[in-house]
Amino acid sequence: MPPIFARAAKSAAWPVLALSCLAFGNASAQGTYPNHPISLVVPFAAGGPTDVVARSLGASMSKTLGQSIVVENRTGAGGTLASTHVARAAPDGYTFLIHHNGMATAPALYRKLPFNPLTDFAYVGQVADVPMTLLGRKDLPPGDMPAFIKYARENGDKVNLANAGLGAVSQLCGMLLQESLGAQFTTVPYAGTAPALTALLGGQVDVLCDQTTQTIPHIKADRVKLYGVTTLDRIQALPDTPTLQESGLKGFEVKVWHGVYAPKGTPPEAIAKVNAALRAALKDPVFTQKMTELGAEIVPESKQTPEGLQTWLQTEVDKWGGIIRKAGVYAD
Ligand code: MLT
Repeated sequence: MPPIFARAAKSAAWPVLALSCLAFGNASAQGTYPNHPISLVVPFAAGGPTDVVARSLGASMSKTLGQSIVVENRTGAGGTLASTHVARAAPDGYTFLIHHNGMATAPALYRKLPFNPLTDFAYVGQVADVPMTLLGRKDLPPGDMPAFIKYARENGDKVNLANAGLGAVSQLCGMLLQESLGAQFTTVPYAGTAPALTALLGGQVDVLCDQTTQTIPHIKADRVKLYGVTTLDRIQALPDTPTLQESGLKGFEVKVWHGVYAPKGTPPEAIAKVNAALRAALKDPVFTQKMTELGAEIVPESKQTPEGLQTWLQTEVDKWGGIIRKAGVYAD
């Protein structure tokens, strides 16, 4: 950008920033932050696994903050539309984003990403780690994972795999699955795994890799075929379910992690208050019990901090960047 335009763009942004700081400054001086509802943006469809975590977390955090946290589902482009929205939102302490591994995979997956996860956000902290499950529609022929492996290798071209778009963990898990099996499925993208699971339940797609925060109730109600969990070890919430690694996919591991972000420039006082509310929620028995029932594990205290999230994000950007570039998967 020629310097004159860069200067103009910068000066145009100043009033917005100054006004939001002024507004926050007044509220903070009176000790009233937050003095109206806070928006928590979810990058995927309502009712899905990220939404489930966001709504339970928001309900618990709002008890500490004394203000409601309103969940806003902004779907599209594998979660990148929501991240772009929050990166560009006023840094006034009233807009936050909850996102998962997709925040770290986006820079390698999207060549024209309109934000940088490492420089365009303020970090609040991590929340919970969530295993994934590999599910088939109820009447898919294979009865277990070894049978599914054989079926997928012989019928890969006939298998429809649902996901939530490029950058979703369901896509990441599906990509690793096809690579491990040496099979190529037809992928069917949805705005989140809530509609993807509805399609699986309705028999419109064959397979879905999805988080336990959405799938456990459907597994317990026997509405789907469960082929395995994606963690290296079995999980407490589904103790009789073999891991994919146990069933023959050596080293197969996908674990989902969640972080809470704000636009860069959000006042440190707001970040500190929201972080305190986050840490209180991660000790709140209502929230923790729900997460445990849904297979999720609260992160250790060292990850519940802004620094803990930032350091983890950098590690994940480096890790997935290498894997994705090697796989040659990207959107222009
Ligand atoms: C969702 O909330 O729909 C999921 O997290 C999407 C995904 O990443 O698979």
